[in-house]
Amino acid sequence: MKSPVELNSFLLAVLISFAFQGASCELVVSPVGPTLVNTLAGNTVTLAVSFTGAPDPAVIWFLGALPVGTWTINSSFPPDIATNRRNVLSIEKNGSLTFTNVPLNFTGNYTVELTKSGLGISATTFTLRVFERIQNVALSTHPDLVKEGIENFTLSYSMLQGVVEQQVWSFNSTALMTSLHYLVKEKNLIIVRPDRNDSGRYTVLLTNPFSSVTTHKDVTVLYGPDEPTIVVQPDKLFHVAGGSLSLTCQAEGFPKPTTKWVFKGEILPDTHKGVLNLTNVITTQGGVYICTLLNELTDERREKAVTVNIYERPLGSPMCSVQSVNDDQLQFQCLWIGGTPQAELSIPELGNTISGTGNLSLTVTASASFNKKTVICMAMHPIENNKCNITTSSPLEFLPAVRTTVASDGKIVVSILCLSEASPQALVAWSRGSEIVTGGTIYQISRDTTQLKIQDRNISNFLILNYTCTCRNPLGSQMRQIKLRGPSISDSSLFPNKDGTVITLTWEVPPTSIVTGFDIQMKGPDLLSKNGNSIYFRGSSNTYVTIQQIPGSARSTDIFVLDPDLTYRFRIIPKALQRKGQPSKVHRIGPGEGLSGTAIAGIAAGIPCSILFLLLLGGIVYLIMHYSKKKSHQTRYPVARAVEKARASQPDITPHNLLPGGLKNLPDYNKLQQTPSERSVALPTFSPPPPVRVATTV
Ligand SMILES: *[C@@H]1O[C@H](CO)[C@@H](O)[C@H](O)[C@H]1NC(C)=O
Ligand SMILES: *[C@@H]1O[C@H](CO)[C@@H](O)[C@H](O)[C@H]1NC(C)=O
Ligand SMILES: *[C@@H]1O[C@H](CO)[C@@H](O)[C@H](O)[C@H]1NC(C)=O
Ligand SMILES: *[C@@H]1O[C@H](CO)[C@@H](O)[C@H](O)[C@H]1NC(C)=O
Ligand SMILES: *[C@@H]1O[C@H](CO)[C@@H](O)[C@H](O)[C@H]1NC(C)=O
Ligand SMILES: *[C@@H]1O[C@H](CO)[C@@H](O)[C@H](O)[C@H]1NC(C)=O
Ligand SMILES: *[C@@H]1O[C@H](CO)[C@@H](O)[C@H](O)[C@H]1NC(C)=O
Ligand SMILES: *[C@@H]1O[C@H](CO)[C@@H](O)[C@H](O)[C@H]1NC(C)=O
Ligand SMILES: *[C@@H]1O[C@H](CO)[C@@H](O)[C@H](O)[C@H]1NC(C)=O
Ligand SMILES: *[C@@H]1O[C@H](CO)[C@@H](O)[C@H](O)[C@H]1NC(C)=O
Ligand SMILES: *[C@@H]1O[C@H](CO)[C@@H](O)[C@H](O)[C@H]1NC(C)=O
Ligand SMILES: *[C@@H]1O[C@H](CO)[C@@H](O)[C@H](O)[C@H]1NC(C)=O
Repeated sequence: MKSPVELNSFLLAVLISFAFQGASCELVVSPVGPTLVNTLAGNTVTLAVSFTGAPDPAVIWFLGALPVGTWTINSSFPPDIATNRRNVLSIEKNGSLTFTNVPLNFTGNYTVELTKSGLGISATTFTLRVFERIQNVALSTHPDLVKEGIENFTLSYSMLQGVVEQQVWSFNSTALMTSLHYLVKEKNLIIVRPDRNDSGRYTVLLTNPFSSVTTHKDVTVLYGPDEPTIVVQPDKLFHVAGGSLSLTCQAEGFPKPTTKWVFKGEILPDTHKGVLNLTNVITTQGGVYICTLLNELTDERREKAVTVNIYERPLGSPMCSVQSVNDDQLQFQCLWIGGTPQAELSIPELGNTISGTGNLSLTVTASASFNKKTVICMAMHPIENNKCNITTSSPLEFLPAVRTTVASDGKIVVSILCLSEASPQALVAWSRGSEIVTGGTIYQISRDTTQLKIQDRNISNFLILNYTCTCRNPLGSQMRQIKLRGPSISDSSLFPNKDGTVITLTWEVPPTSIVTGFDIQMKGPDLLSKNGNSIYFRGSSNTYVTIQQIPGSARSTDIFVLDPDLTYRFRIIPKALQRKGQPSKVHRIGPGEGLSGTAIAGIAAGIPCSILFLLLLGGIVYLIMHYSKKKSHQTRYPVARAVEKARASQPDITPHNLLPGGLKNLPDYNKLQQTPSERSVALPTFSPPPPVRVATTV
């Protein structure tokens, strides 16, 4: 334990104490100047002491508890210094301790003890701190990338040299206190659970008595992407096809996250800063759009989805229809096809909660309550609500239509059309006499059953039995009998032109008459040729000669060139193939008994209506007188009938059309037969008003 130095010192001290046993003063040592001594490394510094009370005491300097040098004041021996400190430490003559070119590791508490035998011990302590100037301080972070949410990150300072007496950390120029968030350990500042608010400037202030240095570092805490916000413009529950919209996806983050839109697994290329513009959209663009965000530094990802509905209106309008099923059931159908989504259809009136999408079909048993009932189908679509209705009804009264043609094999083809307005459409059952007619070679029934075609060479077969058609739907039926007639003419007229060289014959045929053609016959002089044209007929004064053969569809013909000064007679013979019907009445034209062409022209061209009326009146008066005198003459000049005819034809000018297209205008059969005045052909423009003829001839 005792080193040689210590032993020597101890022996010395014993000797000295013996030498001065007689002295009575007390030995006291005291510092000269402060006991805390700061110095820079390399300087020379002295821990100065002074003592009183005894001459030449023994001096021992300790570093802490370790003796580093001993000496007896005024002794001839040099001070004894610990060998490893000899180049720095020296003891002055007055006992002070001098450090020459002091190194850093001489910092410590130095205690001096003075002893003199018999006078006791006195001691005093100095604290020596050796410093260096602080230079080239640097701050570093660990880890390099600071992410929000990691356990901690550390800021450390390092320097080229220096002894730090104090370190002060601050953030954004606010000094930091040690807390749960901030820990200062040695050269480190530890930031626990950093977040984005920890981004900023970190500063450390390092001080010692000889220097002070501040150094800073800017730290960015990387974060995000945060929860994205998606904005759809315009903000609607659904978008209509053809429109435009934009989807915007944004999220906080550092660095700013990159955004991509994904639709049906594919990255959409046309996005810019998270904005996806969709223009002229189609329904297939509806669906889930996913916004994916990426922080490219931290590789953190996030996704958010938004559903875009793109709707399209169904085509056209909803369609209601009704069909018969098994003769006693009604199948209502409501159709509104297309559209996205499909329309929701329902028929609330049928007390049924059944609804369909796009195509709804409901079958109910027919009953009288459905006659003339309107059923409404509600069609609901997000874009548009619509509806349609259908009115059911039993077959209405109708008029059959008969048409005659000649087939290429020469057979007569008679078509009978029985079309009754009905909803659902009526099916037609056909019979001939009491026999049910089914399709075959003679009879053909159209697909919709409304038309019966009969083919036969023998006209008699058409006429023997009546045909019956029965139109039926689940709500009722209508029946008609059709009695076909042989070729016949119901009415005919003759109209000359103004100079009497051309006449027009017009005629009508009863609706149920079978006619395939007409013979126009003439009795009288030859017809003149027309401008050297080959149209020329030789007439006969005592028999009728056929001058024209006309197809069954014709109802008028022109005959020329007549000599206005001669008399001609014309008649029309209806034919069914070879079979001829009753000729029409005879139309006579010529001077004497007829009206001269020039007279007609003059009247037609010049006489105003008022005069016409007066003449008409006069004619009637004359006729009444004439009638009483000469009754037989009246039949040849049917004046009264002509007037009646002019009146009767007024309200019903529409030509009756036997083709199935114009069925609704069909006149009643019986009426037709009684007033056979309708014409299927427009009258010639030069036709004179019949009453005038009467007035002028007499
Ligand atoms: C040292 O001794 C000398 C005589 O040898 C004396 O004159 C001097 O005063 C002494 N110094 C101290 C400090 O005691
Ligand atoms: C002791 O000696 C040193 C050096 O010789 C001197 O600097 C110091 O002032 C002296 N102390 C006293 C109290 O005289
Ligand atoms: C002090 O440090 C130096 C190196 O800097 C070393 O050589 C010396 O031995 C040290 N002295 C003591 C007493 O530890
Ligand atoms: C020096 O002494 C002071 C107080 O007397 C004490 O706080 C300090 O720790 C000591 N230093 C050493 C290096 O022993
Ligand atoms: C800092 O985090 C590391 C791991 O990242 C951990 O080992 C260390 O104990 C943490 N230090 C503090 C003071 O929390
Ligand atoms: C950051 O600070 C602001 C206000 O100082 C606070 O509202 C926010 O919640 C903080 N953020 C985090 C991630 O702590
Ligand atoms: C610290 O400063 C930086 C940069 O000046 C700033 O962006 C940040 O918001 C500040 N942080 C706080 C918590 O004040
Ligand atoms: C989307 O539309 C907006 C406004 O119409 C326009 O400013 C923007 O540039 C468009 N973006 C893209 C990627 O086309
Ligand atoms: C509607 O549905 C009925 C049966 O439910 C089907 O017969 C008909 O073909 C469908 N119509 C359309 C247009 O899909
Ligand atoms: C039925 O539909 C027609 C047009 O389709 C409409 O004019 C009529 O008002 C509707 N009737 C009812 C009862 O809704
Ligand atoms: C035409 O039919 C009738 C009755 O069906 C028959 O009496 C007559 O002989 C037939 N005529 C011809 C030419 O077949
Ligand atoms: C044919 O029908 C008519 C009425 O259209 C009727 O007068 C006639 O008796 C019927 N003839 C036969 C044979 O049933």
